[in-house]
Amino acid sequence: MLTYDNFNLQQHNTFGITARCKHFVEYSSTEELRELLPSLVANNEPWMQIGGGSNLLFTADYPGTILHSAINGIEEKALGDEDVLVTAGAGIRWDDFVAWTLRHGFYGLENLSYIPGEVGASAVQNIGAYGSEAADHIERVTVIDSTDGSTKTFHREECHYAYRHSIFKEEAVRGRYIITHVTYCLHRTFRPVLVYAGLRNELERRSVRTDELTADQLRRIIIEVRRAKLPEPSEIGSAGSFFMNPIVPQETFENLQALYPNMPHYPAPTGVKLSAGWLIDQCGWKGKRLGPAGVYALQALVLVNHGGATGADIVRLSETIQHDVFNKFGIQLRPEAIFI
Ligand code: EPU
Repeated sequence: MLTYDNFNLQQHNTFGITARCKHFVEYSSTEELRELLPSLVANNEPWMQIGGGSNLLFTADYPGTILHSAINGIEEKALGDEDVLVTAGAGIRWDDFVAWTLRHGFYGLENLSYIPGEVGASAVQNIGAYGSEAADHIERVTVIDSTDGSTKTFHREECHYAYRHSIFKEEAVRGRYIITHVTYCLHRTFRPVLVYAGLRNELERRSVRTDELTADQLRRIIIEVRRAKLPEPSEIGSAGSFFMNPIVPQETFENLQALYPNMPHYPAPTGVKLSAGWLIDQCGWKGKRLGPAGVYALQALVLVNHGGATGADIVRLSETIQHDVFNKFGIQLRPEAIFI
């Protein structure tokens, strides 16, 4: 177990914001976590678990303990001839895990290649890209209940998965369960998911025939598409998509579509999903900045730290954008990034 005091979190948030926490503790096993919990809970200071910090915005110093998992290790268990259950430690880098699954011939996560963050957070945020979501493949999530140190298992149906949502984000239990392992159900046969138009267009542009496509090839293409559109956290600070794509009632959508016939939209279980990036772009924010915080020039959904931005600078920019989008479209954008 590693413990640091007055720790700078700059390397632990992809925005690259300087914020300090009173204590930073990194544990590398479920036993170590169980050992340290009683003193944390007894102590009256706040504490929280973070993952790769790719969806966090530190708006101030943190007056307590930040926990970080270094639990790794991957185990597989065959489920008949076709499926395999793969259990991964919460502290593994997400994309290392995706690469591992493909090297072993276990398919299903290729569309989620190159998403920043760690395995534990994939089950909290229900990460998604190019027509796939973590929840499509999560079998169960193993946690430690911080109230009594017991181990609990949440099966997929108990996780309340929806677009970028899970039970672990819900007010009633937020922070209570610490994810130690996530079990994914993957397949031995590669079944490409090509529902995302941008991906199909990219394959066409490269003259790749879908019946000849391999999982490794799809992974490489996705990595290239992401690199072309999204900033590299090592080069420019960001939290990926800062806002969620809003889901609006059918009627709201129809009213807007009458005014903006080219507005991108997608069917969603509870209405119509619009593109926050497009809405922000229409307000003229793409490539603009407000002090050291800015909107990425290649994708308006991404807010960036041009250097030296504080959490407050990013909040100011995000509120200004929310205000402009609301004034123009009557839509309230909600951040995907979690403010701390
Ligand atoms: N668009 C614009 N201007 C922009 C950005 C987008 O007009 O500046 C338009 C695009 O032309 C397109 C539509 O908006 O018609 C959607 O854009 P895009 O395909 O880039 O995807 P997105 O909705 O902006 C979502 C996820 C990404 C994920 C991509 C690909 C959310 C909040 N974001 O972005 O996830 O990689 O789809 O599946 O759901 C993340 O969560 O950090 C993330 C990067």
